[in-house]
Amino acid sequence: MDVLAGLGFEIDRDQSMPVFEQVCSGIRERIVSGRLSAGTRLPPTRGFATEVGVSRSTIVTAYEQLVAEGYLTSRQGSGYTVCDLGGVELPTSRPTPAAKPGRPPRSLPVRAFQAGRPDMRLFPHRQWAKTVARICRTAPERMLTGATVAGNPDLCRAIADHVAEWRGIEAEPAQVLITAGASDGLELCLRTLTRPGDSVGLESPGYPPLEHLLQVHGARMTEMPVDEEGAGVPASDKECRLAILTPSHQFPLGGAMSANRRMEFIRWAHAQDGWVIEDDYDSEFRYAGRPIPAMAGVDRLDRTIYVGSFSKIFSNALRLGYLIVPRPLVEPFREVMGMSGIKASLMPQQALAEFMQGGDFFRHLRRVRRIYADRRRFLLSHLSGRLAPFGWFEDHHAGMQVVFHLSCGLSDREVEARCAARGVAVQPLSAYARAGAESDLNGLVLGFCAHDEEEMAPALEVLAEVLETNPGNDLA
Ligand SMILES: Cc1ncc(COP(=O)(O)O)c(C=O)c1O
Repeated sequence: MDVLAGLGFEIDRDQSMPVFEQVCSGIRERIVSGRLSAGTRLPPTRGFATEVGVSRSTIVTAYEQLVAEGYLTSRQGSGYTVCDLGGVELPTSRPTPAAKPGRPPRSLPVRAFQAGRPDMRLFPHRQWAKTVARICRTAPERMLTGATVAGNPDLCRAIADHVAEWRGIEAEPAQVLITAGASDGLELCLRTLTRPGDSVGLESPGYPPLEHLLQVHGARMTEMPVDEEGAGVPASDKECRLAILTPSHQFPLGGAMSANRRMEFIRWAHAQDGWVIEDDYDSEFRYAGRPIPAMAGVDRLDRTIYVGSFSKIFSNALRLGYLIVPRPLVEPFREVMGMSGIKASLMPQQALAEFMQGGDFFRHLRRVRRIYADRRRFLLSHLSGRLAPFGWFEDHHAGMQVVFHLSCGLSDREVEARCAARGVAVQPLSAYARAGAESDLNGLVLGFCAHDEEEMAPALEVLAEVLETNPGNDLA
């Protein structure tokens, strides 16, 4: 059996392809082209790693990937060996396209102000790894079994405790249903509570994907324009029995719904024999004062369904959230979850439950809130400083983004295009208007969580220059 000393390999660190992929594709290509024949033993991982100047774990991962793809076999004690690919017809390997000479690689716009996005780099990897390792050691079965259609019972209990303490909602764990994020929770509400042709109240402006979700379910939209007190209550004679709201922090404008308007909605839901869906997507992020109690708490979960998510606290890659539903709705929701298939991944649920019960969750929450508060202060100091002549903002001391309303004669779409031409992405407020709604929205939705001050600074410089060079203003 041949044992290779090396593979004549070089890693190109300037390439966009990750190093691990380069190793895989180099070996794959040598096997497919016949340069590495069946039975050849690959160089030992440690030596090969030193030869190409990468970590040993990168080589092990690449070898294992090729084992999974059927190019290599591995046997204890004899390393990794090239498989006999037999008469299998192999796809012709495509060479990596060479960069066109003379043209610099196109970089994506800097997304320093992504709205509603947490900083994924702050994920508490070490504490999470400890929790998962402990479960794997002591009770691995809890990651795979023991859940009902509503999810892991320990997580339901941890969430019930969390919302009691933070949101003033008194619910039994049985009223908690684990979902694959807030979007899954909102979709479950539509599946359970609407029939084709029904009308659903949506805030205007509001979270754009909801319109599409309504279309998918054959529901119609009743527009609920947002004023200083929050979204307006649909007229009672309308065929609308369901309203989706963001009362703690209106998306995207910010601001909490007045107590008066909340009561109006609760009365409306009673009168219509309908429901209010409270999307509390980022309520953990308040930077001053006490948390505003959830509507579901005030209503004692009578006519309000509460939608929560871990996407903002942790990462939307976790894809976990929850619904808290009034008691009479528990069975109908469970039935629909059973029929339509559970989307929430079960595996991380036990870890999340223990993370919450053991206090790591709240430590993480306190830490990111402190960091986001600093980033928010930094952004607001620019908006009220150099950018002040071009617009205004309201400080709601909450959330993950702030709206900068433009007053400089440029439309938000023009500012978006001019910033994009200079490599910076900004989100125009007018993109959040409901289809067909009359709208005078003109502003920028500026997220301040996903990037730190150093990353935001050059993007703010570009934004300031774009606004300052507008021929229509006095500063040009
Ligand atoms: C207002 C609002 N609701 C719901 C969601 C969906 O959240 P998730 O990632 O948990 O599905 C978002 C995401 O940005 C949002 O901004």
